This record gives sequence, structure tokens and C-alpha cells, in this order.
Amino acid sequence: MQFAAPAYVQHRRLIDWVAQVAALTQPARIHWVDGSDEENAQLLAQMVAASTLVKLNPEKRPDSYAAFSDPSDVARVEDRTFVCAERREDAGPNNNWTAPAEMRQTLNGLFEGCMRGRTMYVIPFSMGPLGSHIAHVGIEITDSPYVVASMRVMTRMGRAVYEVLGSDGEFVPCVHSVGAPLAEGQADVAWPCNKDTKYIVHFPETREIWSYGSGYGGNALLGKKCFALRIASTMGRDQGWLAEHMLILGVENPQGEKSYVAAAFPSACGKTNFAMLIPPAAYQGWKVTTVGDDIAWIKPGADGRLYAINPENGYFGVAPGTSEKSNPNAMAMLKRNVIFTNVALTDDGDVWWEGMSKEPPAHLIDWQRQDWTPECGRKAAHPNARFTVSAEQCPSLDAAWNDPAGVPISAFIFGGRRSSTVPLVFEAASWDEGVYMAATMGSETTAAAMGAQGQTRRDPFAMLPFCGYHMGDYFDHWLKMGERVAMPPRIFCVNWFRVDEAGKFLWPGFGENMRVLEWMIGRVQGKAGGRETLLGWMPEYADLDWQGLAEMNPAQFAKLMSLDFEAWRAELGSHAEWLAKLADRLPPALETKRTQLSEALAR
Ligand code: GTP
Ligand code: SPV
Ligand code: MN
Repeated sequence: MQFAAPAYVQHRRLIDWVAQVAALTQPARIHWVDGSDEENAQLLAQMVAASTLVKLNPEKRPDSYAAFSDPSDVARVEDRTFVCAERREDAGPNNNWTAPAEMRQTLNGLFEGCMRGRTMYVIPFSMGPLGSHIAHVGIEITDSPYVVASMRVMTRMGRAVYEVLGSDGEFVPCVHSVGAPLAEGQADVAWPCNKDTKYIVHFPETREIWSYGSGYGGNALLGKKCFALRIASTMGRDQGWLAEHMLILGVENPQGEKSYVAAAFPSACGKTNFAMLIPPAAYQGWKVTTVGDDIAWIKPGADGRLYAINPENGYFGVAPGTSEKSNPNAMAMLKRNVIFTNVALTDDGDVWWEGMSKEPPAHLIDWQRQDWTPECGRKAAHPNARFTVSAEQCPSLDAAWNDPAGVPISAFIFGGRRSSTVPLVFEAASWDEGVYMAATMGSETTAAAMGAQGQTRRDPFAMLPFCGYHMGDYFDHWLKMGERVAMPPRIFCVNWFRVDEAGKFLWPGFGENMRVLEWMIGRVQGKAGGRETLLGWMPEYADLDWQGLAEMNPAQFAKLMSLDFEAWRAELGSHAEWLAKLADRLPPALETKRTQLSEALAR
């Protein structure tokens, strides 16, 4: 195969690496992605011709497309995700591990000839504003045009990245293949992938990513979870910063005082919704703005505060449940220029998903391209159906979202999906206590990862699937970061998902979360009341603003906030089991905190 890098690529090591990967994977051709509009249009047209994409009705949803993935390829595959540190204990019990040499052998076998008959794309991308001191560059090699089109939205992608790289700049090499080579004359399928074999592999010491067999989301868009979280978390550990699974939002009160908070909720637990919150009508003059909805890179600033940037350029958000009622900002940003994946199609060429409207349409084409009617008993959209859209289209986008200096963080918020036990909100009494609460956070699993849903697992810092090293070391890193900065953010825990005996949510959530946000900001500013409890500081009924929410009477609020000591003793037992798994690297401060809490509960 002919091999020639374009003249604007001047980076010898990069060119040699591309040549090596091409020699291994044996694609039919190589396409150096430049990120131009023409290139994008051509790729989209090619995917429509190949049935990978359906073009939506331009009158309903201009410049938008729908993709439908293989049923074996609809979410992240945590059991197929590996962190191959030299030493097993550095990856920790929170990661699957194989010795690097052995894994390289496996990968060499899998990647040999895996791009036969396909085009190999070379994607230059930057996580963070191009050329800024906080940004990091990656090069993703992929045989999926869907990945190219998605990376163009989700990252700063294109030719300008090579100018930043020059002839010897640092980049993270990311190799991706759907693992479905085409034999001579073999017809392609709409969503090529490898149904049986998937590997999502990270080599933290050499900062490399290899992904095989999946074309979906976090498995394939390697700038996101693989780079900006798993690899970046190890960079942050080494260099004194944090890479977190957090949204970042700005909140401004009627007096014009602005604060920023960052919140870690596990996958499909409300980050996008919270980041784009529209305050209830009673909150005249309050404004919430969006910096990011999934990932935050956080660094100490010279003024003793922590500053956060969103390294992404777009949102890969959960579609089901998104509606004019739950997230009007998202609905507005999805009006045009969107790639939808695994949603349903309406008869007039638009999209639909569960929760978009109360009444489902009478007929749809579902995400598996089957006829669908409301009584058929199947979901029309896959529960992990998603939209891919540029951040610039978000109506609530914060003016500083692109600022390389980042925004100063006043509070960290941690929240799992817990139908019981965990109250609506509390503030940890100290940084260390907050770290304990985040380290032991539980959440019911969602459709964002393959596997059983609704099981409560420990998901510390919402990072269980994304921390690229030993979770015990990660906790230690967090404890130390609190000491390193003069003004560490306050730490809060929330739970939007507590239910009553009938299984009904006790808290209305969504825009109403503003009331909790106001209390948290008030705490930071020394304005909001609270009473000290076993878990930390909690608001009394009178400490929150209830204008326009008559349904939340004191009795309902008491239920929402109640601390059931019996349930908390069981919870502490579960903390103990979880922390015991990390015993070899668990910071002693956390074990001490656990003992104190269980002693207090026993009294
Ligand atoms: P990832 O992109 O997977 O990391 O997740 P995310 O945290 O951004 O998820 P997202 O905001 O898209 O959450 C989607 C799910 O959370 C949907 O099922 C929503 O209905 C639900 N959700 C979001 N906010 C609330 C809330 O305040 N209350 C309740 N009950 N559900 C909520
Ligand atoms: C998540 O699962 O937390 C996501 C979606 O944000 S994915 O990019 O597929 O990992
Ligand atoms: Mn996420």
C-alpha cells in the first residue's frame, strides 16, 4: 500500500507510528483527516450511502443524522476494559489487568490485518483549547468513519493540531479498530463491529490506548473516557492535578455574584441535566450556565483555589428522558446538526425516545430498525441511546467555557442513584470527610455500561470505571490535593433519586435541583443555615426556598432527609467491604473516618 503523509505533517515519530500501525492492520487506504467542512460532508454522505447513517428530514431536524448500532455494541464494556500497568498493584483491584507484554501479544494478534478492505483514518485532536497550556494532544487511528465524524464534534479536531505538535510535540497514540476486516468483494454491514471480541486497553506508563471490536461511545471515541479520564488521571496523579468524571456549571444570583461548582454523578445519573439546569420560575434573576457535562480537568491556581476546564468540545449525552420539561436547553441544542445513535425514527423522518413526550407516536422505526407501536412491549430507543452535539449549540453555554485558565471551583458535589438511605443533600464537615463520602459513594448501575442494571455498587467519585490507577492511591491523591490548596472547595453529597414505599421519587428533581444548589452556594458564602448531623451539615425545612413548590411540605421533606440508622449501619458494612478490597493502598485517614462513623452509629 502506498504511504505518504501530507506535507503539513512534519512529525517524524508520528509518521513512523502511523506507518507501523498501517503495516500491522493492513488497511486498503489511509485518510489523513483534516477536519474541513468538505471532508465532513463527504464522510457523512458516504455513511448515508452505506446505511450507517439515516439522514433526518431537513425540515424537522436540519443537518442531522441517526445511527443504529449492533445490539452487541450499545454501551461501554467494563469487563473488557484493561489498565495494563507494569505492576498489577498499580492498576489496583478497580481495574482489569494483564501484564503489558502479554497484552501486547494479544493485541498484535487481533490487530494484524484487522483493517483489511477498510480505510484507516488518522485523526489529530486536542483535549482542551488548541495550543493552550492545559490542553493535551492525541492522534486516533480508526477504521470507523462514524468515529471520525463524532470526534470532530467531541474534540478540537483537524489540521491545526499538527501546527501545535510541530516536529516533535507530545501526543497520546490511540489505535482503534471495529475489528471487522472485509475480505475481497465482501459486502459491509451498516454497523461493523466484532460481536465476540472486544478489548479496551490502556498502557498508563507509555500513555497508549488500544481499542478493538466496538464502534460505540466511550469504547471508540478515545479522547473521552480512555484519554481524558483513564490516562489523564494517571498524568494528574504524577503532575499534581485531577481528571474527573464531573460536570462544571456556573451559577449567578440576582446580585450578580457568580460561583462555579463541579459535580460527579455516575454515568446516566444526571450530569447533563444538572449542567443545563433552568431555575424554576420563582428564581427570578438566577442564572445557571454550562461549562461541561462529563469531564473536568482541575488544577491548583496561584491564588490558592482550584480551577477547572472542560477538555471536551461537545456532548455525548443520554437521549431517553430528555424533554422540554426535563431539559429544555438540551432540546434547543438538539434542533440541528446532531448525530443521534440508537434513538427511534418517526414516520416523518424525525427522532423520538422514551420520555421525549408523554404520548408516544402511534408508529416508529425502533433502534433495531423494526416497526414499533406503543403496545409492542419493546423500548423504541435503546436506554443508552445518545446524541452527539457541539458545545457551541448549547443555549446555556458559559462565557468562560473555552477559557484556558479554567473557572474557580467553590464546591464539589457527589451524587449517586440511591432509592433509599442517602438523604437529598448534606455538606461534609471537612475536606477529609468529604473525600470519605465520595470514596464510599454507592450508585445503582445504569444502561451506560453493558451488564445488569439497578444493582447498587460502590462507585467512588463516579470514577470506578474511569480511574486509570489504584483507587487507594487515587483517594490519597485527593486527600493531598486538599492540603495543597489554600482554599479547597467545600464538598457536598446529593441524592436526587430517593423513592417512597410505592417506588415514586420523593424529589421532583431537574430544574427543582436549583433549590439544593442555592443552599449549597449559600453554605459556601456563609449565608445558608443547617444543623450538624452524623453525616455533616444538613438543611432544615426552613433553610431551603420553597416558593412555587407547594408539594414539598415539611413531612415530605423529612422523609427525603431522614437518616435511618439501621440502614446506615448496613451502609457502613458495605463501605467496610469495599474499603477492604483496597486495603493494600488505603489511606489510613479513611479507615479512621469509617471507624468513627460506625462508633457514632452504634451509640
Ligand atoms: P453520562 O453521560 O453517562 O456520564 O451521564 P450523565 O450523568 O450526563 O447523565 P444524564 O444527565 O444524561 O442522565 C440521564 C438520566 O438521569 C435520565 O434517566 C434522567 O431522567 C435522569 N435524571 C437526571 N436528572 C434527574 C433528576 O434530577 N431527578 C431524577 N429523578 N432523574 C434525573
Ligand atoms: C458514560 O458512560 O459515563 C458516558 C458515555 O459518558 S460513554 O462516552 O459511552 O462512556
Ligand atoms: Mn460520563
